[in-house]
Amino acid sequence: MTESRRFAILAQRDINKETFVEPWAEAGLMVTDSPYDPQPSLRLENGQVVEMDGKQRADFDAIDWFIADHGLNLAAAEEAMATPSLQIARMLADINIPRADVQRLASGCTAAKLIEIIRHMNVLEMMMGLAKMRIRRTPANQAHVTNWREHPALLAADAAEAGLRGFAEVETTVRVARFAPLDALAILVGTQTGRGGVLTQCAVEEALGLRLAMKGLTSYAETLSVYGTERVFVDGDDTPWSKAFLASSYASRGIKVRFTSGTGSEALMGHAEGCSMLFLEARCLLVARGAGSQGVQNGSISCIALPEALPGGVRVVLAENLLASMLGLEVAAGNDALASHSAIRKTAKLMLQFIPGTDFIFSGYSAVPKRDNLFGGGNFDAEDFDDYNVLQRDMQVDGGLKPVNEQDVLAIRRRAAQAIQAVYAELGFPAISDVEIEAATVAHSSDDMPERDLVPDMAAADRFLNSDITILAAVQALQKHGFTDVAKNMLEMGRQRVAGDYLQPSAIFDENFKVKSAINDVNDYGGPGTGYRVEGERWQEIQKIPQMKSPRQFIDAQIGEPSGKLVEIGPAVRGEQQEVVIAVGPAFGKAMTRTIGGLEHEDVLAAMLTGIALEGLVARIVKVYHSSDCAAIGHVGARLSGTGIAIGIQSRGTTVIQKRGLAPLNNLELFPQSPSLTLETYEAIGRNAAQYAKGQSSTPVPVKVDNGARLRLIVKTTLLHRRETEEVRVDQLPVELLFDWEPNL
Ligand code: 5AD
Ligand code: CA
Repeated sequence: MTESRRFAILAQRDINKETFVEPWAEAGLMVTDSPYDPQPSLRLENGQVVEMDGKQRADFDAIDWFIADHGLNLAAAEEAMATPSLQIARMLADINIPRADVQRLASGCTAAKLIEIIRHMNVLEMMMGLAKMRIRRTPANQAHVTNWREHPALLAADAAEAGLRGFAEVETTVRVARFAPLDALAILVGTQTGRGGVLTQCAVEEALGLRLAMKGLTSYAETLSVYGTERVFVDGDDTPWSKAFLASSYASRGIKVRFTSGTGSEALMGHAEGCSMLFLEARCLLVARGAGSQGVQNGSISCIALPEALPGGVRVVLAENLLASMLGLEVAAGNDALASHSAIRKTAKLMLQFIPGTDFIFSGYSAVPKRDNLFGGGNFDAEDFDDYNVLQRDMQVDGGLKPVNEQDVLAIRRRAAQAIQAVYAELGFPAISDVEIEAATVAHSSDDMPERDLVPDMAAADRFLNSDITILAAVQALQKHGFTDVAKNMLEMGRQRVAGDYLQPSAIFDENFKVKSAINDVNDYGGPGTGYRVEGERWQEIQKIPQMKSPRQFIDAQIGEPSGKLVEIGPAVRGEQQEVVIAVGPAFGKAMTRTIGGLEHEDVLAAMLTGIALEGLVARIVKVYHSSDCAAIGHVGARLSGTGIAIGIQSRGTTVIQKRGLAPLNNLELFPQSPSLTLETYEAIGRNAAQYAKGQSSTPVPVKVDNGARLRLIVKTTLLHRRETEEVRVDQLPVELLFDWEPNL
């Protein structure tokens, strides 16, 4: 069989590490519109649902019961079900229809009806829909902070950095379940060092999660998973009612609740019942709302690779987010688990949430390196922070993060590690040493941390969990050791739990512990000029990445002290001899003294003169003042040259070999990639020019092709050209230069 080199290379690409599979409806391997998905229907009798999506009440399963009795707004249901799905789809994309109108109709839609609406929408329309339907006006972001050593100082330092970088929520999870109370404590102390008001959670088994919350160690709970078929609930020992009960338990203790659902879980667990992933997700969302959750974490979450293996998978993940927002649920939109090997694909997927904005664009941006992420590796990791900040800056989009500088990060990391050290000391936990503090301050990952004996830590965790000690003891410890600000923030978190304001839908805290929620920061997007805009201070903050340089410094390296060896001797006239003219730009050897590649102008001149001399010819040097353009400089040189051959060179080093009679933009040889030119190249250019002058033909001078040069140097090129252009005197005729140069043949 013949093999293509092209296909062999393509086979090596990251995208081809993924699995792509044909849809198979019976196995639930279909993202939407399975032939087994029911048709929408709803019949009410005496205020009760007696038929839903083609099923009679007597045939309902537990999920149907729950949705029919708790998940639908029956006051809107008849109108909603009678409104054509295409019309609701258009309302979603139409900037002139307010969010509340769509939300009211959506609240009366059955799962099959919701899917029928999505059928009419492409991703662009869904993004418009999401921009309008998302709950909170201000977008935000959530982080994962974990490490495989479960090192308390590293957890605290990473959580503090996450707070500083702008995350509104930070969550951790465990490698060893017994560590949960200490991990939760570490990220609480860490986040409150980085920025007061960051909400935190520790994802563990629900009963333990509730105990941590009641101890004051966490402030939100997100992993209340729901599923779209009864059998998956049964396998998890759960029902919609048990989840509703759990949600109330959390909320009644001041814990913000968000359910978790997402396409693919039912197929993965073997009970999709032939239904499409999106249909089952619509059922989950109706359960979440029926159970009284203020929000949901969806977008496939841990199952993301499954919909992505199927056609239309990424579109349907956006559809899940949109459906949740239509139902009035705060959305933490996924982008958490590793979704692709391909940087192109993972970034493309992100754009569907990043551009419209969601309540949390990630339901877990991995603020640690991938290998330290105990949630299974993030789709974006700590290594991607700079990329992410640049994306915000490029698009003037608020992705919930901000650029930070190294010294601020180091300071906050050290302080957080010292704070948890103080808490450990006062609570009688195994000591955290100063060596560990220093390691955590500068660490990138667990690998940078000294080994810690886990056994006494685990024993301390057990004692802590089983004791009556709450975060108040930690607050006291912080106060005693001089971490007054951290103590204050932690106490405030406790106080806010009692106040309960952050239980409002879609609530986060701003930097001043002020709640931003669906009540006081309601999304009012209605097209251009409305809704959340990246402007003012926030836009300034997004712009100022630390890598940004002042344009004024860019050309410092090209400006030196002229040696005085190059002097103007009078007007340049047309020559009669066998010569080559070297025409230089207006800044050459004076306002600027080096090329973009750092070559001294005088060395460049000497190299070209050597090349010409080696061919037995003489040269004259003229300076062109009326233009800084390379073609114009060469063109003038050729007019003045006795042989009609000239080399034109700009101060940044861009060079042309020109012949009289050719149009300015036509030429013998052009060397546009000045950064790649060496003194050897310039000598060869001199030789070739001399050969042309003698009427010979020559092989073009070989040059290194560097495709990245323009990308790297375009700003510098622009500024060098600007500087040269400043030297232009439009009325000044070319001037002859004398160069005090000793040939070195
Ligand atoms: N559906 C429901 N729950 C999910 N989780 C992750 N993905 C899904 C999904 N598609 C839950 C896990 C765990 C937490 C990380 O999120 O069960 O509790
Ligand atoms: Ca999460």
